Amino acid sequence: MPLSNFYKNNKSFTMKEAYTKPLIVLTIVLTSLSLIIEAIELADLANICENEILILNSDSVKFDRNSIVSSTLRCIVIRSDNVNIEEGSFANVPNLKYLDLRRNRISKSNLFSFGNISHLKILNLGHQDHRHNYYSEEEIIISNKYPELEYLDLSYNSISDILVEGDLLENLLPNLTHLNLSGNKISSPLSLTLPPMLQYFDLSDNGISQFSFEKLNNLLSLRLDNNNINTLNHHHVDLTPLQNLVNLSVTNNQIKYISSNSIENLFNLRDLNLSYNYLSDFDFKMIKDLHSLEVLALDGNSIDAVSISVPLNITTLSLNCNRIINITTDSFYNLNNLRRLFLSRNTIRNIYVNSFENQKLLEELYLDDNDLSHLPPYWYQFTKKLRYLNLSGNKFTSLESVLYDSNFPVTRLHFERNPLIYINGSVMLPEMTIFLNIEPRPGVRCDNENMHRKYLY
Ligand SMILES: *[C@@H]1O[C@H](CO)[C@@H](O)[C@H](O)[C@H]1NC(C)=O
Ligand SMILES: *[C@@H]1O[C@H](CO)[C@@H](O)[C@H](O)[C@H]1NC(C)=O
Ligand SMILES: *[C@@H]1O[C@H](CO)[C@@H](O)[C@H](O)[C@H]1NC(C)=O
Ligand SMILES: *[C@@H]1O[C@H](CO)[C@@H](O)[C@H](O)[C@H]1NC(C)=O
Ligand SMILES: *[C@@H]1O[C@H](CO)[C@@H](O)[C@H](O)[C@H]1NC(C)=O
Ligand SMILES: *[C@@H]1O[C@H](CO)[C@@H](O)[C@H](O)[C@H]1NC(C)=O
Ligand SMILES: *[C@@H]1O[C@H](CO)[C@@H](O)[C@H](O)[C@H]1NC(C)=O
Ligand SMILES: *[C@@H]1O[C@H](CO)[C@@H](O)[C@H](O)[C@H]1NC(C)=O
Ligand SMILES: *[C@@H]1O[C@H](CO)[C@@H](O)[C@H](O)[C@H]1NC(C)=O
Repeated sequence: MPLSNFYKNNKSFTMKEAYTKPLIVLTIVLTSLSLIIEAIELADLANICENEILILNSDSVKFDRNSIVSSTLRCIVIRSDNVNIEEGSFANVPNLKYLDLRRNRISKSNLFSFGNISHLKILNLGHQDHRHNYYSEEEIIISNKYPELEYLDLSYNSISDILVEGDLLENLLPNLTHLNLSGNKISSPLSLTLPPMLQYFDLSDNGISQFSFEKLNNLLSLRLDNNNINTLNHHHVDLTPLQNLVNLSVTNNQIKYISSNSIENLFNLRDLNLSYNYLSDFDFKMIKDLHSLEVLALDGNSIDAVSISVPLNITTLSLNCNRIINITTDSFYNLNNLRRLFLSRNTIRNIYVNSFENQKLLEELYLDDNDLSHLPPYWYQFTKKLRYLNLSGNKFTSLESVLYDSNFPVTRLHFERNPLIYINGSVMLPEMTIFLNIEPRPGVRCDNENMHRKYLY
């Protein structure tokens, strides 16, 4: 396909013949953005690209400053197994805002070989070692200036550290708000100072046991899933500088200990996910002043008793896959804003009278895969908003041990995998759907240990 003087919609792109294998598939995408939107949360990508993207697919391709010439093009995607991009290759694309070079097997020392790009907003350099994971762990050096760059994706590149040459990262990337370093080989604090304007930071799938978040007081979202963190405290992982943090996820680590001052001052926290760790207890007093906290997830730990002694405003509490046996009046009394409660896959045997007396707003209750054979008489008298109840995989022999009268508020009841002896049709309520598959799929077991499997180094 001749590539020079490619015209589309009166816009001109010239593409000089590339070397060795000139089989380049060149596409101008005018409508479909789905190919590149994956993993990019910036909703305004369509606006940035103005629905026009140059996509180059090729076995082998070499770029220099005369390869792509366009005064209007804003978005370029290159996919190749052997790409050589010289410094200044995009100098004749003065409006370039979006550059996606994922999955091109670019070596770490060549990741930024194209040099400075003045108006670039989004740079995606992830997954260079997608084929064999043969990349050795190595540091990378950033020395170019991207004054308008907001989003930098360096995920899955076997990066062990990042250095900057000649300047601070906050001067080279003064507008950086999103940084994705997931799937690398980072195990300790980076040598560079992270830019204080960072808002979204993904450090999942690394080997981190210690890290510093000093000065990141604009951070809104932090992901630390699949690392080797065993303690949240000042010496290991110090979260105290993150005064504006909204979402924090530290799942699939080995956390045994959380120092109370590590999260008690994160006053803007909305979502906290500490699932799949080694917590045998969680001190709910630590979060008593977090008035914005709505969602707390502690799945896959080894919590055996819950008694939340401080008032909390959370709307969702998830305690799936723990070792809870009894639910008592003390368990949830202080959670009067609760809408969704997940207690699946524990070993709950007893739910005591009035255990849900303060859950007037509760809408969904998950009790599947426990050891329950009955619920206390009229247990639902306070939970008038309860619409969804999952009791699959328990030991109920009849519906009457759940449903005591026609005030039962639930409209969707999951009752699969119970040793039902008979069903008394006259206890069923007209507005209620009961799910009673005869040959249901087996229940999912908790595989807490397997959830701790790490991304292979
Ligand atoms: C790229 O930007 C840096 C920092 O401003 C500057 O020192 C360097 O000379 C620039 N490189 C080129 C090739 O313009
Ligand atoms: C950030 O980008 C905007 C344009 O989007 C620019 O006006 C501003 O100068 C940049 N900030 C810095 C510190 O360079
Ligand atoms: C970071 O990149 C990984 C892999 O590309 C992706 O799965 C993940 O969703 C990204 N993180 C964020 C916060 O977008
Ligand atoms: C926090 O997480 C929630 C739920 O996933 C999401 O809707 C929200 O946009 C996130 N907020 C930030 C600041 O990342
Ligand atoms: C918490 O994280 C686990 C593991 O990553 C995930 O399965 C679960 O959906 C998350 N819970 C919430 C409430 O976000
Ligand atoms: C719950 O929310 C109310 C109103 O939004 C607030 O006044 C109260 O302090 C909050 N309580 C807790 C424990 O966060
Ligand atoms: C659960 O309740 C039973 C019966 O009241 C009691 O014997 C048992 O000690 C309780 N177990 C725990 C772990 O509190
Ligand atoms: C209810 O529980 C059953 C059995 O554990 C499960 O298969 C089903 O997905 C659950 N329903 C929902 C909506 O989560
Ligand atoms: C079926 O339920 C009705 C209403 O609760 C009750 O009067 C009747 O005795 C039950 N029948 C059997 C066979 O248990």
